[in-house]
Amino acid sequence: SRSIRLAVIPGDGIGPEVVAEGLKVLAAVLPQDVKLETNEYDLGARRWHATGETLPDEELKSLKQHDAILLGAIGDPTVPSGVLERGLLLELRFAFDHYVNLRPGKLHPSTVGPLAGSPAIDFVVVREGTEGPYTGNGGSLRTGTPAEVATEVSVNTAYGVERVIRYAFERALARPRRNLTLVHKTNVLVHAGNLWQSTFDAVAAEYPDVTTDYLHVDAATIFFVTRPERFDVIVTDNLFGDILTDLAAAVTGGIGLAASGNINPTGAYPSMFEPVHGSAPDIAGTGKADPTATVLSVALLLRHLGYEQEAGRIEAAVAADLAERDPAAPRSTEQIGDALAARLAG
Ligand code: IPM
Ligand code: MN
Repeated sequence: SRSIRLAVIPGDGIGPEVVAEGLKVLAAVLPQDVKLETNEYDLGARRWHATGETLPDEELKSLKQHDAILLGAIGDPTVPSGVLERGLLLELRFAFDHYVNLRPGKLHPSTVGPLAGSPAIDFVVVREGTEGPYTGNGGSLRTGTPAEVATEVSVNTAYGVERVIRYAFERALARPRRNLTLVHKTNVLVHAGNLWQSTFDAVAAEYPDVTTDYLHVDAATIFFVTRPERFDVIVTDNLFGDILTDLAAAVTGGIGLAASGNINPTGAYPSMFEPVHGSAPDIAGTGKADPTATVLSVALLLRHLGYEQEAGRIEAAVAADLAERDPAAPRSTEQIGDALAARLAG
């Protein structure tokens, strides 16, 4: 019989609240014959305050023994900036070689927000996840003096760039429109830009059925707002992808709906699914957080593990829920989770 071993990292702020609803929906959608085993990990601000640890080796080894990881959110105002982000979240992405950070942007017909009523928006950003300016390569000279010099080196390897571009072409090929846009800043970042553009062109030659184009990242932000329906699949580097996907969330119904997967397509390591939003400490514990981004991340998780039908059912339940939302009557985190689970059970 089938089984899923799922590691759960609720994390900080609203993380535990939204994860609880994600797990509720997961339990509601899984067929009876699928055995679900969940193991929860106490990682994040609480752990760091208690022990000084962010991601001990033992935990990393134990996490590796799972089919996938569900993560809520990481980050807390009581912990110095960067400690948990680098020491836990990015450490997981690097350790498990999550070189694809997959972030779909889809506008539901009923969505409220700046682009409500726009033509159908349905794109997916393939953000590189293990390189670029995120590697921590850099330093500072004459720190704390007026002559301080700080560098943050963007690392781009032929290996890393090619594998994420290949993944993006495969994604594009599997979608009806079969278009792939490279987003970079090749007019200024010429070294990394040349590597990205030449690799993109070389791989494109192997995919004659995929149409391609290129946008500088600044121009891409304009199109994300003025003509987001023009995008199908987008491939870009780690930092550009980080920024673009917050914008993508804003134009497709808000950060409360944006899901993501940190994926190792080889299957050598467990992939990790998380809402794009952060820990939102200002609303933690108030029941105001929308668990939908986490629920949609659970759908991505199920699709990644081969449960395509169940993933589709969750997405349909979310679409139906969004269609019936009344902005004048906001529901709590738990109420939204309950409503989605009820739809799936019914
Ligand atoms: C995200 C977040 C992270 C990132 C931070 C918290 C390290 O903003 O997942 O988009 O920059 O990747
Ligand atoms: Mn981000």
